Amino acid sequence: MAGTACCEDKKTVSSAVAYGGGYFFLPSRPRRSPDCVRLFFIRDSGAGSKEDTDMKHLFHGTAALLLCLTLSGAAWGADTPKKGLLLVAFGTSMETGAPAYEGIEGAFRLKDQPVVWAFTSNIIRAKMARQGVRLLTVPEGLARLAEQGVTDVIVQSLHIMGGEEYAKMERLVLTEVLTHPDRFASVKVGRPLVESMRDAREVAEAVLHSLPAARAAGDAVLLMAHGQGEGRCDMVFAGMQGVVNETDPLAFMASVEGYQGIDQVLPQLQARGVRRVWLLPFMVVAGDHAHNDLAGDEPDSWASRLKAQGMEVFPVLKGLGENPGVQSVFVRHALETEDDYAHPVIKTSAAD
Ligand code: CO
Repeated sequence: MAGTACCEDKKTVSSAVAYGGGYFFLPSRPRRSPDCVRLFFIRDSGAGSKEDTDMKHLFHGTAALLLCLTLSGAAWGADTPKKGLLLVAFGTSMETGAPAYEGIEGAFRLKDQPVVWAFTSNIIRAKMARQGVRLLTVPEGLARLAEQGVTDVIVQSLHIMGGEEYAKMERLVLTEVLTHPDRFASVKVGRPLVESMRDAREVAEAVLHSLPAARAAGDAVLLMAHGQGEGRCDMVFAGMQGVVNETDPLAFMASVEGYQGIDQVLPQLQARGVRRVWLLPFMVVAGDHAHNDLAGDEPDSWASRLKAQGMEVFPVLKGLGENPGVQSVFVRHALETEDDYAHPVIKTSAAD
C-alpha cells in the first residue's frame, strides 16, 4: 500500500482543510463532538489532558461492553495498572474519512481510558504536516500512551489485510518494546480486518447486507479493494473475493493494485449481462481512491470504465469503518489478542 503506484499522493489538499480543532471538521460539516478530533490528530501546540473525557460514547453492543470490562480489569504486575488503546490506520488526507474513524472509535468506546491514534503512511503524515496537522507515528503513539500512565497497551491495526502497512506497524511495535523494555507491562497487537474465514464472512455479510434498498435484483455490486502489485496479501484477497461472490453471486471484488483489476472484472460483468453496478470502496475510509479512482469523472476511473460499456453506476462512498458489522470485527480482534510483545512467552517444551 505504500508503493509508488499508490494514488494517495497525487492530489493536493486545500488549505481550508486545516481548520479549527482539527482538519476533519470543516465549516460545511456538522460537528459531532468538538473533542473527538483531537483523538485523531495531535497538533504541535499540544493536546489537553481532558481530550478523551468528554466524548459521546454510543453503545454498540456486547462486544464493546466486553472490551470495556476487559480493559478495566487488573493489569499484570504493574503498581498502578492502566490500560490504553492505540488505533493504527494507514491514514487519509481527505476529510471524508472522518465518519469511518469516528465510527470505529465509537465502537471501542473506552470511557476514561486513553485512546490514541497513529498512522502508518509516511506520505499522509508528511502531507498533513504541510497543512499544520501533526499525525502521530506508531512510536509517537506508544510514547503518548506511556506519558498518560498507561501500563498495558492494545495496538489495534485498522488495516484491511496483513500486508506491507501492517508489517510495518508490527516492526515498529517490536522495535519500540525492544528499545524501551520496561515501559509497558504488556503490549498486545490486534490483527487487521480480514485474517480468517470467519472474518471474511462477517465482513462480507456486513457489507452486502447493508446495501442501499434501491439495489434491484440483477444489479451487480463491485467492491474496490486496495491490493498490492506484489506481496503477501494476494491469497487473502482471493479468499475474500471468493467469500464476497459466495455471499452474493452478483457481488465482485477487484483492486487498485494487484492481479485482479477492473480489466479482469469487466468481462465477468458483461458475461452476466449486468446493466447496473453499485460501486463501494473496500477500504476503511472513503478517501482519495474511492472518490477519484472508483467514482471520479476521469476516463480511467472505474465508474467511467463501466459507463463506457453502457452500464449505469451507483457509487456508495462510505468507508468500511462506517459499517457497524466491520467495526465489531475490529473490536473482536482487539479482544482476541493474546501474544504479549513486551514479554513474549515462547514455549519450547512439548509438556507446556
Ligand atoms: Co493507495
